[in-house]
Amino acid sequence: MTITTAVIDLDLPGATISRHIYGHFAEHLGRCIYGGFWVGEDSPLPNVRGIRSDVVDALKAIRIPNLRWPGGCFADDYHWRDGIGPRERRPRMVNSHWGDVVEDNSFGTHEFMDLCELLGADPYVSGNVGSGSVAEMSDWVEYLTRADDSPMAALRRANGRDQPWRVPFWGLGNEAWGCGGNLRAEQFASLARQYATYARNHGGNSLYRIAAGANADDLHWTETLMRSFNDLTSDPAGHAGPFQAVSLHYYTMSGSWSDKGDATGFSTDQWYITMARARHMEELLTRHSTVMDRYDPHRKVGLVVDEWGTWWNVEKGTNPGFLYQQNTLRDALVASVHFDAFHRHADRVVMANIAQTVNVLQAMILTDPDTNALVLTPTYHVFQMNAGHQDAAALAVHLRDADTRTVEGDELSLVSASASVNGDTALVSLSNLDAEIDRSVVLDLRGRDVVGHSARILTATALDAHNTPERPDAVAPAAHAGVRAHARGLEVDLPAHSYVTVSLDLR
Ligand code: AHR
Repeated sequence: MTITTAVIDLDLPGATISRHIYGHFAEHLGRCIYGGFWVGEDSPLPNVRGIRSDVVDALKAIRIPNLRWPGGCFADDYHWRDGIGPRERRPRMVNSHWGDVVEDNSFGTHEFMDLCELLGADPYVSGNVGSGSVAEMSDWVEYLTRADDSPMAALRRANGRDQPWRVPFWGLGNEAWGCGGNLRAEQFASLARQYATYARNHGGNSLYRIAAGANADDLHWTETLMRSFNDLTSDPAGHAGPFQAVSLHYYTMSGSWSDKGDATGFSTDQWYITMARARHMEELLTRHSTVMDRYDPHRKVGLVVDEWGTWWNVEKGTNPGFLYQQNTLRDALVASVHFDAFHRHADRVVMANIAQTVNVLQAMILTDPDTNALVLTPTYHVFQMNAGHQDAAALAVHLRDADTRTVEGDELSLVSASASVNGDTALVSLSNLDAEIDRSVVLDLRGRDVVGHSARILTATALDAHNTPERPDAVAPAAHAGVRAHARGLEVDLPAHSYVTVSLDLR
């Protein structure tokens, strides 16, 4: 067995890992909003003003920092005025992207802001550029954030909310190259500048505007948006303008868009393909950042990965438009690998939003449509085990002797790692992507004294192990005893297909 060494200089803190990298996404899609978050005030399930209490409690436990809403593709079909006022009078619409179902708009602006307040999460509202007007978006910002007796503030008050909300994050469209309008990069860059101009700061509310960005390796899209910053003057809050960030979307699957692979029952080869494709995020961040550096060498413009995660074939018997999939140990390792990449790029990646929070794609939480039983997925546990990285300073991890395996013509490094320090605590995250072979990692810890440690492990016997209402803890974190003193620091056992976090007490 090869022993991998991870050299970490504990006294050389790098960029701050924004807690917003641990952000989430909730779209009007399948059972994410309806049944997932929203059950209505009359539900027999414990709820606060119609919002499921068990879901809120579970997300608060992983320190959910922000929530993106209402889409996704849905955002560019959404007209916010349909979702305010008495629910029984709200107009209906067709959710043409997701299942072609009728949306009754019972979950709208007030319900979303209430949800964010219950979660203690910052709202990230995706504005409609695809089918909405500039005035409509401008009015929505005013409705949400203005304090005086302006027309939109008065309308909000008439609907029961006196004080404006704080809205830090504002999306300008979504996937404008696809469902958000099928635009060319040049067209969208002009629109983004225009919409950004009218998404105004009211009173003390300062918007961080995020322009809909590239699909995966479309560097031209990022380049075009960056070029459209003809100056990088700052707004009163010190943000570069006209928008402050561009986004990036990338999904992981083991097959193709027409047959993405199944969430469970996959082969070992599919495991490795998945890991290799998840690790591709690292390359994407490097390449998009390099393009951004040319226009913004001081890294004032953020990169926001506001959709990422696994996308599998839907579970048999479920609505194909609802994107309901099971979530296994493999999904957990896809998440850990993404976080390692985000941590390494903390000086450019300011936010990321896994798709999606409940019952859709790589969810944190699955709820049973019949019994309403709630299950925490293996992915949820990675968010929990990694929570200590939020707002900590990234530490470089230099890996030596990490084995590789050739997958789809490229070398897949079988160990992934990242680390951070926050005062007198450091957190090291380690993933063994090898489906079959146990390994160990020597943590060569330099620069500060380590006076104590504890470790947790997430693994299971089967690669596709997952949690169900009957076995909710089939994949759950446990204390990890496989950590020993070593001449260079610590030696950590990493069983095949496992994820380990080591917390270090420093002096
Ligand atoms: O997350 C599901 C969908 O994936 C989103 O609506 C869209 O932006 C992306 O294509």
